[in-house]
Amino acid sequence: MRPVEIKKGIYWVGAVDWDIRTFHGNTYSTKRGTTYNSYLIIDDKVTLVDGVLASFAGEQIERIREIVPVEKIDYIIVNHIEPDHSGALPGLMKLCPKAKLFGTAKSKEGLSRMYGTDWGLQVVKTGEKLNIGKRNLTFIEAPMIHWPDSMFTYCAEEELLLPNDAFGQHYATSERFDDGTDQCALMDEAGKYYANILWPLGGMIARKIDEILKMNISIKMIAPSHGIIWRRDPMKIINSYISWTKNETKPKAVVIFETMWGSTEMMARKITEGLTDGGVEVKLFDITRSDRTEVNNQMLDARCFVFGSSTHDNGMLSTLAGFLEFLNGLKPKGRIGAAFGSCGWAGGAIPAIEQVLKEAGIELALPSISVKYVPDQDELKKCYEMGVELAKKITGKA
Ligand code: FEO
Repeated sequence: MRPVEIKKGIYWVGAVDWDIRTFHGNTYSTKRGTTYNSYLIIDDKVTLVDGVLASFAGEQIERIREIVPVEKIDYIIVNHIEPDHSGALPGLMKLCPKAKLFGTAKSKEGLSRMYGTDWGLQVVKTGEKLNIGKRNLTFIEAPMIHWPDSMFTYCAEEELLLPNDAFGQHYATSERFDDGTDQCALMDEAGKYYANILWPLGGMIARKIDEILKMNISIKMIAPSHGIIWRRDPMKIINSYISWTKNETKPKAVVIFETMWGSTEMMARKITEGLTDGGVEVKLFDITRSDRTEVNNQMLDARCFVFGSSTHDNGMLSTLAGFLEFLNGLKPKGRIGAAFGSCGWAGGAIPAIEQVLKEAGIELALPSISVKYVPDQDELKKCYEMGVELAKKITGKA
């Protein structure tokens, strides 16, 4: 693939990683692959913004060389040091050792730790401008969106925001722009990215978006470091982020369970039937066989979380317990929850789930349902009725 001119004199020189299937260790399943976006600005000072994973260094260099000799790069903007964006930097710096780097104080510290050098990176702060010729780049620190070093770069002359990970998606395509791609897949991946990487940081993201909107800058294009570039309607993704940071939900429930011998699964299916008949959208997941990245994605706009587990060693089964660790950091607002499960003798799963809901600030909407060994018809009816009652609470008809 050749470089792609995203604006006159500004080129995408990144890489498409079609095959990657897990990201951040094993925490994020990337079934549609990803891209590492890097942008080359041709001006009096040849400027590279963002980088690629080490294994794609050759592709990045090849694309740069189609436009300009790599040795001609004057400036490199390090918006974020995570290895998917900085991994190729050591090799690149061997080819253009005189290039001057710009980034935050945390970038400087992090690069030194990661590569044994910061290449003399010049620390910049929010509001500082770098003139590169006809254009000026303005830096906006964005700590914890999603690493301490994170930064956005804005070019007023091009009405272009380069926010690195923010507004990105793990989505490998031959298209580079939102107007040329499947909108459903694009928004699905953008939501999944937010749910799995940024959701716990929603408060900081809301404040950062507010800060940027108050700067009254014109944004005609948002070019993130992963996935598709937003140019058809950049406010679409900004407004989606605003909605997600506000924890806006719809009449939807997610039922997530882990079962030992099938009893808790029988309960989960009856609760799901009740929710469905109650008129709300429902997603049902056996957490041991589900893609956690997709489960998180489905939870993002759900008003109700229902968790079930058989009791094992006086607590929850381990896969659900591990999954619920996620809720601890999340503390999602405006959700209701419920718990259910089976046990042989001393039940312990339900109190453990209730404790997680309490710590996460999720209101327990109904008394939990616990059954011994195998649910009988009356108990299955109670599970169905729990679903119907939850649907009423979700829709505000209770
Ligand atoms: Fe795409 Fe935080 O790295």
